[in-house]
Amino acid sequence: MRGLTKDKLLSLAEEFGGAFYLLDSCQFQANYTRLSDEFKKIYGNFNIAYSYKTNYTPKLCKIVNENGGYAEVVSHMEAEIALRSGVHPSRIIWNGPIKNTDKVNELLLSGATVNLDSVYEFHNIVSLAEKHPEVTLNVGIRCNFDVGDGVVSRFGIDTDSDEFDRALELFVSHKNIYLVNLQCHFAKRNVEFWPARAEGMVKTAKRVEKALGYLPRRIDIGGGIYGNMEDELKAQFTANIAGYADYAKAAATVFKKHFPDEEPELVIEPGSALAGDCMQFAGCVETIKTVRGKTYITMLGSQKNISMSGINPPMRVISMGGEATDFTDADIVGYTCIEGDVMYRGFNGRLAVGDFLVFSNCGSYSLVMKPPFIFPNFPVLDICREEVEVIKKQETFDDIFHTFSFR
Ligand SMILES: Cc1ncc(COP(=O)(O)O)c(C=O)c1O
Repeated sequence: MRGLTKDKLLSLAEEFGGAFYLLDSCQFQANYTRLSDEFKKIYGNFNIAYSYKTNYTPKLCKIVNENGGYAEVVSHMEAEIALRSGVHPSRIIWNGPIKNTDKVNELLLSGATVNLDSVYEFHNIVSLAEKHPEVTLNVGIRCNFDVGDGVVSRFGIDTDSDEFDRALELFVSHKNIYLVNLQCHFAKRNVEFWPARAEGMVKTAKRVEKALGYLPRRIDIGGGIYGNMEDELKAQFTANIAGYADYAKAAATVFKKHFPDEEPELVIEPGSALAGDCMQFAGCVETIKTVRGKTYITMLGSQKNISMSGINPPMRVISMGGEATDFTDADIVGYTCIEGDVMYRGFNGRLAVGDFLVFSNCGSYSLVMKPPFIFPNFPVLDICREEVEVIKKQETFDDIFHTFSFR
Protein backbone atom coordinates (compact mmCIF):
# COMPACT_ATOMS: atom_id res chain seq x y z
CA MET A 1 0.00 0.00 0.00
CA ARG A 2 2.77 2.43 0.90
CA GLY A 3 4.46 1.75 -2.42
CA LEU A 4 1.63 3.16 -4.50
CA THR A 5 3.04 3.58 -7.99
CA LYS A 6 2.03 5.45 -11.11
CA ASP A 7 1.16 2.18 -12.84
CA LYS A 8 -0.99 0.99 -9.96
CA LEU A 9 -2.88 4.31 -9.87
CA LEU A 10 -3.31 4.27 -13.64
CA SER A 11 -4.90 0.85 -13.59
CA LEU A 12 -7.15 1.81 -10.63
CA ALA A 13 -8.17 5.04 -12.39
CA GLU A 14 -9.01 3.16 -15.58
CA GLU A 15 -11.33 0.86 -13.71
CA PHE A 16 -12.72 3.10 -10.96
CA GLY A 17 -12.41 6.71 -12.16
CA GLY A 18 -10.44 9.73 -11.01
CA ALA A 19 -10.90 9.49 -7.24
CA PHE A 20 -11.14 6.69 -4.67
CA TYR A 21 -10.39 5.72 -1.12
CA LEU A 22 -7.66 3.17 -0.58
CA LEU A 23 -8.27 0.96 2.41
CA ASP A 24 -5.55 -1.00 4.16
CA SER A 25 -7.37 -3.64 6.16
CA CYS A 26 -4.04 -5.31 7.05
CA GLN A 27 -2.98 -2.11 8.81
CA PHE A 28 -6.28 -2.12 10.72
CA GLN A 29 -5.56 -5.66 11.91
CA ALA A 30 -2.02 -4.69 12.88
CA ASN A 31 -3.29 -1.69 14.86
CA TYR A 32 -5.86 -3.86 16.63
CA THR A 33 -3.24 -6.39 17.67
CA ARG A 34 -0.70 -3.83 18.82
CA LEU A 35 -3.18 -1.71 20.80
CA SER A 36 -4.61 -4.79 22.45
CA ASP A 37 -1.16 -6.16 23.29
CA GLU A 38 -0.09 -2.90 24.96
CA PHE A 39 -3.05 -3.00 27.37
CA LYS A 40 -2.87 -6.79 27.94
CA LYS A 41 0.78 -6.51 28.97
CA ILE A 42 -0.44 -4.60 32.03
CA TYR A 43 -4.00 -5.91 32.53
CA GLY A 44 -4.74 -9.24 30.89
CA ASN A 45 -8.54 -9.10 31.11
CA PHE A 46 -8.86 -6.49 28.44
CA ASN A 47 -10.91 -6.03 25.32
CA ILE A 48 -11.68 -3.57 22.57
CA ALA A 49 -15.14 -2.25 21.63
CA TYR A 50 -14.62 -0.74 18.21
CA SER A 51 -16.36 2.62 17.73
CA TYR A 52 -18.41 1.93 14.59
CA LYS A 53 -19.23 5.59 13.96
CA THR A 54 -15.58 6.32 13.21
CA ASN A 55 -15.55 4.11 10.13
CA TYR A 56 -18.31 1.53 9.87
CA THR A 57 -16.93 -0.24 6.80
CA PRO A 58 -18.25 -3.81 7.33
CA LYS A 59 -14.85 -5.32 6.52
CA LEU A 60 -13.35 -3.49 9.52
CA CYS A 61 -16.30 -4.44 11.75
CA LYS A 62 -15.77 -8.08 10.78
CA ILE A 63 -12.06 -7.93 11.65
CA VAL A 64 -12.97 -6.69 15.12
CA ASN A 65 -15.50 -9.48 15.51
CA GLU A 66 -13.04 -12.14 14.33
CA ASN A 67 -10.56 -10.87 16.91
CA GLY A 68 -13.13 -11.26 19.71
CA GLY A 69 -13.76 -7.52 20.12
CA TYR A 70 -17.11 -5.84 20.78
CA ALA A 71 -19.15 -3.60 18.50
CA GLU A 72 -19.66 -0.17 20.04
CA VAL A 73 -22.70 1.31 18.32
CA VAL A 74 -24.70 4.48 18.85
CA SER A 75 -27.78 3.93 16.71
CA HIS A 76 -30.06 1.20 15.42
CA MET A 77 -28.43 1.74 12.02
CA GLU A 78 -25.04 0.86 13.49
CA ALA A 79 -26.53 -2.06 15.43
CA GLU A 80 -27.84 -3.36 12.11
CA ILE A 81 -24.34 -3.05 10.58
CA ALA A 82 -23.04 -5.21 13.42
CA LEU A 83 -25.74 -7.85 12.97
CA ARG A 84 -25.24 -7.98 9.21
CA SER A 85 -21.48 -8.26 9.75
CA GLY A 86 -22.14 -11.45 11.70
CA VAL A 87 -21.73 -9.99 15.20
CA HIS A 88 -23.68 -11.88 17.87
CA PRO A 89 -26.02 -9.54 19.79
CA SER A 90 -24.18 -10.37 23.03
CA ARG A 91 -21.10 -8.65 21.55
CA ILE A 92 -22.94 -5.37 20.87
CA ILE A 93 -22.65 -2.43 23.26
CA TRP A 94 -25.10 0.35 22.49
CA ASN A 95 -24.28 3.87 23.67
CA GLY A 96 -25.83 7.09 22.51
CA PRO A 97 -28.23 9.76 23.68
CA ILE A 98 -31.23 8.84 21.51
CA LYS A 99 -32.20 5.24 20.94
CA ASN A 100 -34.98 3.56 19.00
CA THR A 101 -37.06 1.84 21.68
CA ASP A 102 -38.22 -1.11 19.58
CA LYS A 103 -34.66 -1.90 18.50
CA VAL A 104 -33.37 -1.43 22.06
CA ASN A 105 -35.93 -3.96 23.30
CA GLU A 106 -35.19 -6.42 20.52
CA LEU A 107 -31.46 -6.25 21.21
CA LEU A 108 -31.79 -6.40 25.00
CA LEU A 109 -33.93 -9.52 24.66
CA SER A 110 -31.25 -11.12 22.53
CA GLY A 111 -28.40 -10.37 24.96
CA ALA A 112 -26.93 -7.06 23.83
CA THR A 113 -25.77 -4.38 26.28
CA VAL A 114 -27.56 -1.04 26.31
CA ASN A 115 -25.98 1.84 28.22
CA LEU A 116 -28.37 4.32 29.81
CA ASP A 117 -27.67 7.91 28.88
CA SER A 118 -30.53 9.62 30.73
CA VAL A 119 -33.50 8.99 33.04
CA TYR A 120 -35.80 9.04 30.01
CA GLU A 121 -34.69 5.49 29.26
CA PHE A 122 -35.58 4.09 32.70
CA HIS A 123 -39.29 3.59 32.15
CA ASN A 124 -38.82 1.46 29.06
CA ILE A 125 -36.18 -0.74 30.72
CA VAL A 126 -38.45 -1.36 33.72
CA SER A 127 -41.48 -2.23 31.62
CA LEU A 128 -39.39 -4.57 29.44
CA ALA A 129 -37.98 -6.27 32.56
CA GLU A 130 -41.46 -6.69 34.01
CA LYS A 131 -42.86 -8.04 30.76
CA HIS A 132 -40.01 -10.58 30.50
CA PRO A 133 -39.14 -11.71 34.04
CA GLU A 134 -37.43 -14.82 32.61
CA VAL A 135 -34.85 -12.75 30.65
CA THR A 136 -31.83 -11.03 32.20
CA LEU A 137 -31.38 -7.62 30.61
CA ASN A 138 -27.77 -6.49 30.26
CA VAL A 139 -27.90 -2.79 31.03
CA GLY A 140 -25.03 -0.38 31.57
CA ILE A 141 -24.72 3.23 32.67
CA ARG A 142 -22.79 5.88 30.82
CA CYS A 143 -21.00 7.78 33.59
CA ASN A 144 -20.35 11.49 33.46
CA PHE A 145 -17.76 13.02 35.82
CA ASP A 146 -14.97 15.55 35.77
CA VAL A 147 -11.60 14.39 34.45
CA GLY A 148 -10.07 17.86 34.53
CA ASP A 149 -10.23 18.42 30.78
CA GLY A 150 -12.26 21.64 31.07
CA VAL A 151 -15.25 20.15 29.25
CA VAL A 152 -18.74 19.62 30.65
CA SER A 153 -19.83 16.67 28.54
CA ARG A 154 -23.49 16.39 27.62
CA PHE A 155 -23.41 12.60 27.60
CA GLY A 156 -24.30 10.14 30.29
CA ILE A 157 -25.53 10.46 33.85
CA ASP A 158 -23.71 12.66 36.35
CA THR A 159 -22.27 10.24 38.93
CA ASP A 160 -22.78 12.89 41.64
CA SER A 161 -26.48 13.34 40.88
CA ASP A 162 -29.70 11.90 42.31
CA GLU A 163 -30.31 10.53 38.83
CA PHE A 164 -27.33 8.22 39.22
CA ASP A 165 -28.78 6.91 42.51
CA ARG A 166 -32.12 6.43 40.75
CA ALA A 167 -30.33 4.49 38.02
CA LEU A 168 -28.81 2.17 40.65
CA GLU A 169 -32.28 1.69 42.14
CA LEU A 170 -33.42 0.04 38.89
CA PHE A 171 -30.94 -2.77 39.45
CA VAL A 172 -31.86 -3.14 43.13
CA SER A 173 -35.60 -3.30 42.52
CA HIS A 174 -35.50 -5.53 39.42
CA LYS A 175 -33.31 -8.59 39.75
CA ASN A 176 -33.47 -9.30 36.02
CA ILE A 177 -31.90 -5.93 35.19
CA TYR A 178 -28.21 -6.69 35.49
CA LEU A 179 -25.62 -3.91 35.64
CA VAL A 180 -23.23 -5.52 33.20
CA ASN A 181 -21.11 -2.51 32.43
CA LEU A 182 -20.12 0.98 33.39
CA GLN A 183 -19.02 3.16 30.50
CA CYS A 184 -17.59 6.61 29.93
CA HIS A 185 -16.02 8.50 27.06
CA PHE A 186 -14.17 11.80 26.96
CA ALA A 187 -13.47 13.36 23.60
CA LYS A 188 -10.11 15.00 24.36
CA ARG A 189 -7.37 12.61 23.35
CA ASN A 190 -4.69 13.99 25.67
CA VAL A 191 -3.21 11.11 27.63
CA GLU A 192 -2.86 13.26 30.76
CA PHE A 193 -6.64 12.93 31.35
CA TRP A 194 -6.56 9.13 31.16
CA PRO A 195 -5.53 8.34 34.75
CA ALA A 196 -8.47 10.48 35.94
CA ARG A 197 -10.94 8.61 33.76
CA ALA A 198 -9.61 5.26 35.02
CA GLU A 199 -9.67 6.39 38.68
CA GLY A 200 -13.17 7.84 38.26
CA MET A 201 -14.49 4.60 36.81
CA VAL A 202 -12.83 2.45 39.49
CA LYS A 203 -14.36 4.65 42.18
CA THR A 204 -17.80 4.39 40.58
CA ALA A 205 -17.47 0.61 40.20
CA LYS A 206 -16.65 0.24 43.89
CA ARG A 207 -19.67 2.36 44.78
CA VAL A 208 -21.83 0.13 42.57
CA GLU A 209 -20.44 -2.96 44.31
CA LYS A 210 -21.50 -1.53 47.66
CA ALA A 211 -24.99 -0.67 46.42
CA LEU A 212 -25.71 -3.81 44.41
CA GLY A 213 -23.44 -6.43 45.97
CA TYR A 214 -21.55 -7.10 42.75
CA LEU A 215 -19.02 -5.44 40.46
CA PRO A 216 -20.09 -4.79 36.87
CA ARG A 217 -18.61 -7.41 34.56
CA ARG A 218 -17.01 -4.76 32.35
CA ILE A 219 -15.66 -1.29 32.82
CA ASP A 220 -15.50 0.55 29.55
CA ILE A 221 -13.38 3.69 29.69
CA GLY A 222 -14.20 4.92 26.18
CA GLY A 223 -12.22 6.04 23.17
CA GLY A 224 -10.20 9.15 22.51
CA ILE A 225 -6.83 7.70 21.52
CA TYR A 226 -4.75 9.29 18.80
CA GLY A 227 -4.08 7.21 15.72
CA ASN A 228 -0.63 6.57 14.27
CA MET A 229 0.72 9.64 12.52
CA GLU A 230 3.74 10.63 10.57
CA ASP A 231 5.93 13.29 12.19
CA GLU A 232 4.81 16.05 9.79
CA LEU A 233 1.20 15.52 10.89
CA LYS A 234 2.06 15.26 14.59
CA ALA A 235 3.90 18.57 14.38
CA GLN A 236 0.67 20.36 13.42
CA PHE A 237 -1.04 19.51 16.73
CA THR A 238 -0.45 21.63 19.81
CA ALA A 239 -1.02 18.58 22.06
CA ASN A 240 1.57 15.91 22.66
CA ILE A 241 0.59 12.93 20.47
CA ALA A 242 0.74 9.95 22.78
CA GLY A 243 1.25 6.39 21.54
CA TYR A 244 -0.72 3.23 22.35
CA ALA A 245 1.70 2.27 25.16
CA ASP A 246 1.25 5.65 26.87
CA TYR A 247 -2.54 5.22 27.08
CA ALA A 248 -2.13 1.64 28.31
CA LYS A 249 0.27 2.75 31.02
CA ALA A 250 -2.00 5.64 32.05
CA ALA A 251 -5.17 3.57 32.43
CA ALA A 252 -4.37 -0.14 32.75
CA THR A 253 -1.91 0.48 35.60
CA VAL A 254 -4.73 2.06 37.62
CA PHE A 255 -6.90 -1.01 36.99
CA LYS A 256 -4.11 -3.42 37.94
CA LYS A 257 -3.57 -1.54 41.20
CA HIS A 258 -7.26 -1.65 42.20
CA PHE A 259 -8.16 -5.03 40.68
CA PRO A 260 -5.01 -7.22 40.99
CA ASP A 261 -7.08 -10.33 40.10
CA GLU A 262 -8.08 -8.63 36.85
CA GLU A 263 -11.85 -8.68 37.41
CA PRO A 264 -13.72 -6.84 35.89
CA GLU A 265 -12.87 -6.73 32.21
CA LEU A 266 -11.27 -3.46 31.11
CA VAL A 267 -12.66 -2.21 27.80
CA ILE A 268 -11.71 0.74 25.60
CA GLU A 269 -13.60 2.11 22.59
CA PRO A 270 -11.03 3.21 20.05
CA GLY A 271 -12.08 4.61 16.72
CA SER A 272 -9.35 6.84 15.28
CA ALA A 273 -6.60 4.81 16.92
CA LEU A 274 -7.57 1.80 14.81
CA ALA A 275 -8.94 3.33 11.62
CA GLY A 276 -7.08 6.62 11.22
CA ASP A 277 -4.07 5.46 9.25
CA CYS A 278 -5.93 2.67 7.42
CA MET A 279 -7.28 4.79 4.62
CA GLN A 280 -5.81 7.05 1.99
CA PHE A 281 -7.72 9.21 -0.43
CA ALA A 282 -6.47 9.55 -4.00
CA GLY A 283 -7.79 12.10 -6.48
CA CYS A 284 -6.75 13.52 -9.78
CA VAL A 285 -5.66 17.15 -10.40
CA GLU A 286 -8.27 18.61 -12.76
CA THR A 287 -7.39 22.31 -13.21
CA ILE A 288 -4.68 24.76 -12.23
CA LYS A 289 -5.25 28.51 -12.36
CA THR A 290 -3.91 31.74 -10.94
CA VAL A 291 -6.35 34.37 -9.69
CA ARG A 292 -4.98 37.76 -8.65
CA GLY A 293 -1.62 36.23 -7.90
CA LYS A 294 -2.89 33.18 -5.99
CA THR A 295 -2.57 29.72 -7.52
CA TYR A 296 -5.42 27.22 -7.09
CA ILE A 297 -4.98 23.56 -7.91
CA THR A 298 -8.44 21.98 -8.11
CA MET A 299 -8.73 18.24 -7.66
CA LEU A 300 -11.39 15.58 -7.82
CA GLY A 301 -12.00 15.30 -4.12
CA SER A 302 -13.07 17.52 -1.28
CA GLN A 303 -12.12 18.37 2.27
CA LYS A 304 -15.36 16.45 3.04
CA ASN A 305 -13.65 13.30 1.75
CA ILE A 306 -10.66 13.50 4.02
CA SER A 307 -12.24 14.85 7.21
CA MET A 308 -9.25 16.96 8.19
CA SER A 309 -9.60 20.72 8.37
CA GLY A 310 -7.26 23.43 9.58
CA ILE A 311 -4.21 21.26 9.07
CA ASN A 312 -2.30 19.99 6.08
CA PRO A 313 -2.70 16.23 5.83
CA PRO A 314 0.25 14.11 4.73
CA MET A 315 0.09 14.27 0.93
CA ARG A 316 2.09 12.80 -1.91
CA VAL A 317 2.06 13.79 -5.56
CA ILE A 318 2.17 10.85 -7.97
CA SER A 319 3.22 12.15 -11.34
CA MET A 320 1.28 10.74 -14.28
CA GLY A 321 3.72 12.13 -16.81
CA GLY A 322 2.07 15.45 -17.73
CA GLU A 323 4.14 18.59 -18.14
CA ALA A 324 4.79 19.68 -14.56
CA THR A 325 5.30 23.21 -13.24
CA ASP A 326 6.87 24.45 -9.99
CA PHE A 327 4.45 26.07 -7.55
CA THR A 328 4.98 28.18 -4.46
CA ASP A 329 2.28 28.76 -1.85
CA ALA A 330 -0.49 27.27 -3.96
CA ASP A 331 -3.75 26.02 -2.42
CA ILE A 332 -5.02 22.56 -3.33
CA VAL A 333 -8.80 22.88 -3.35
CA GLY A 334 -11.81 20.60 -3.72
CA TYR A 335 -14.60 20.27 -6.29
CA THR A 336 -17.28 21.85 -4.11
CA CYS A 337 -18.43 25.47 -4.32
CA ILE A 338 -17.32 26.20 -0.77
CA GLU A 339 -14.54 28.79 -0.61
CA GLY A 340 -13.08 27.03 2.42
CA ASP A 341 -12.86 23.65 0.68
CA VAL A 342 -9.09 23.59 0.88
CA MET A 343 -7.39 20.22 1.11
CA TYR A 344 -3.84 21.51 1.43
CA ARG A 345 -2.68 25.09 2.05
CA GLY A 346 0.57 26.58 0.86
CA PHE A 347 1.74 23.79 -1.43
CA ASN A 348 5.31 24.16 -2.64
CA GLY A 349 6.38 21.72 -5.30
CA ARG A 350 5.93 20.39 -8.80
CA LEU A 351 2.84 18.95 -10.37
CA ALA A 352 0.72 18.78 -13.51
CA VAL A 353 -2.90 18.40 -14.45
CA GLY A 354 -3.63 14.66 -14.46
CA ASP A 355 -1.31 13.91 -11.54
CA PHE A 356 -2.74 12.07 -8.55
CA LEU A 357 -2.66 13.49 -5.05
CA VAL A 358 -2.70 10.87 -2.31
CA PHE A 359 -3.69 11.89 1.22
CA SER A 360 -2.90 9.64 4.19
CA ASN A 361 -4.64 9.30 7.57
CA CYS A 362 -8.14 9.59 6.11
CA GLY A 363 -9.67 6.63 7.94
CA SER A 364 -11.60 8.28 10.74
CA TYR A 365 -14.81 10.34 10.45
CA SER A 366 -14.32 10.68 6.66
CA LEU A 367 -16.40 8.11 4.77
CA VAL A 368 -19.10 8.21 7.47
CA MET A 369 -19.38 12.01 7.45
CA LYS A 370 -19.20 12.71 3.71
CA PRO A 371 -22.50 14.37 2.73
CA PRO A 372 -24.04 13.83 -0.72
CA PHE A 373 -23.17 17.45 -1.42
CA ILE A 374 -22.58 18.07 -5.13
CA PHE A 375 -21.20 14.59 -5.84
CA PRO A 376 -22.09 11.06 -4.76
CA ASN A 377 -19.18 9.51 -2.91
CA PHE A 378 -16.22 7.73 -4.47
CA PRO A 379 -15.49 4.00 -4.20
CA VAL A 380 -13.47 2.34 -1.46
CA LEU A 381 -10.87 -0.18 -2.57
CA ASP A 382 -8.87 -2.48 -0.34
CA ILE A 383 -5.44 -2.79 -1.86
CA CYS A 384 -3.52 -4.36 0.98
CA ARG A 385 -3.33 -7.63 -0.94
CA GLU A 386 -2.34 -8.40 -4.52
CA GLU A 387 -5.92 -8.38 -5.75
CA VAL A 388 -7.96 -5.18 -5.42
CA GLU A 389 -11.12 -5.71 -3.37
CA VAL A 390 -14.06 -3.38 -3.92
CA ILE A 391 -15.23 -2.54 -0.41
CA LYS A 392 -17.77 0.09 -1.48
CA LYS A 393 -18.88 0.80 -5.03
CA GLN A 394 -18.93 4.26 -6.55
CA GLU A 395 -22.20 5.81 -5.36
CA THR A 396 -24.70 6.55 -8.08
CA PHE A 397 -27.36 9.19 -8.66
CA ASP A 398 -30.00 6.62 -7.74
CA ASP A 399 -28.27 5.70 -4.47
CA ILE A 400 -28.91 9.23 -3.32
CA PHE A 401 -32.12 10.21 -5.05
CA HIS A 402 -34.29 7.12 -4.74
CA THR A 403 -35.68 8.50 -1.47
CA PHE A 404 -36.79 11.77 -3.12
CA SER A 405 -40.03 12.20 -5.02
CA PHE A 406 -39.71 13.77 -8.48
CA ARG A 407 -43.46 14.15 -8.79
C1 LIG B 1 -18.83 6.97 22.99
C2 LIG B 1 -17.66 7.06 22.06
N1 LIG B 1 -16.75 6.06 22.09
C3 LIG B 1 -15.68 6.07 21.27
C4 LIG B 1 -15.44 7.12 20.39
C5 LIG B 1 -14.22 7.06 19.49
O1 LIG B 1 -13.40 8.12 19.70
P1 LIG B 1 -11.95 8.22 18.99
O2 LIG B 1 -12.18 8.18 17.54
O3 LIG B 1 -11.43 9.50 19.49
O4 LIG B 1 -11.19 7.05 19.50
C6 LIG B 1 -16.35 8.18 20.35
C7 LIG B 1 -16.15 9.32 19.43
O5 LIG B 1 -16.85 10.28 19.40
C8 LIG B 1 -17.48 8.16 21.21
O6 LIG B 1 -18.39 9.15 21.21
